[in-house]
Amino acid sequence: MTAPMTLPIARQGNAIPIVGFGTSPLTGGMSPDIVVAALKAGYRHIDTGRKYGTEGAVGDGMRASGLPREDIFLTTKVSHEHLKADDFAKSVDASLAALKLDYIDLLLIHWPSPDIDMKVTMPALAKAKQQGKARMIGVANFTTRLLDEAVAACPEPLVALQAEYHPFLDQTKLLAAARRHKLAFIAYCPLGRGRLFDDPVLNDIAKARGRSVAQIALRWSVQQDVAPIPFSSNPQRIADNFNVFDFELSDEEMKRISALKRADGRVANPVGRVPGGWD
Ligand SMILES: NC(=O)c1ccc[n+]([C@@H]2O[C@H](COP(=O)([O-])OP(=O)(O)OC[C@H]3O[C@@H](n4cnc5c(N)ncnc54)[C@H](OP(=O)(O)O)[C@@H]3O)[C@@H](O)[C@H]2O)c1
Repeated sequence: MTAPMTLPIARQGNAIPIVGFGTSPLTGGMSPDIVVAALKAGYRHIDTGRKYGTEGAVGDGMRASGLPREDIFLTTKVSHEHLKADDFAKSVDASLAALKLDYIDLLLIHWPSPDIDMKVTMPALAKAKQQGKARMIGVANFTTRLLDEAVAACPEPLVALQAEYHPFLDQTKLLAAARRHKLAFIAYCPLGRGRLFDDPVLNDIAKARGRSVAQIALRWSVQQDVAPIPFSSNPQRIADNFNVFDFELSDEEMKRISALKRADGRVANPVGRVPGGWD
């Protein structure tokens, strides 16, 4: 059995292509060529954010690929400094202008902030959907408590949660909360931003399977119905990371990989950004 190529969105009979492409390079810029390489390799889900400064390159790459707009699932995000209603709307308009697109497939709140007011922010997010600027809406980096509050305060259904997830980080509670709220789970830093590559267990499984460590980690995610969005600047690695649909990890391999979780596994953790901390 091979995994499905898409992750259903329970609420809307819609689907997210299960392996997406991240576009937040830590160093250097993002060129449209990288986005074209990802689309050529088969990715149909591209993740960007207002904060990354890559929306222009992403939009240009989408057009340069020659693919019809509706074949690509495009996510962008509103940053935590713009969660008040007017700022929020301006940020969405700036994203659409930078992308040179007339709609976003999935619009996310990028991070919560200590002074987030759900009664203001969630209607602002919903408004982008009601105005047709975003087909679907969701949140990123919300904890279980913030998720409950967001779902209760949002006039439109949320369909997705994006959060850090890879074998070094236990997200059992957050996954359960996302499932309870019928949210698709999108995993950022699915390669632990490069930290996974020296791990002996992952290397052992990769060697036994004739696969790369990245493919093993991404397949582990896909088999949990979680959508990873790896980034690479290298066309060979971009293609390699997408090639995870023709093998299946055994239950024992899945358990060995899940057992790699560790207390210091979190990669993205801006100080003071998450009200009340991660628990
Ligand atoms: N919502 C949020 O707050 C949030 C936060 C962080 C990230 N994100 C999103 O998630 C995406 C992915 O996260 P990320 O880029 O931080 O981390 P990542 O995808 O876990 O790791 C990317 C790193 O792994 C390397 N790499 C990729 N494939 C490889 C392979 N097959 N073999 C060896 N090295 C490989 C890349 O280097 P090379 O370029 O040299 O291949 C790059 O340094 C981002 O681009 C962004 O779109 C969202």
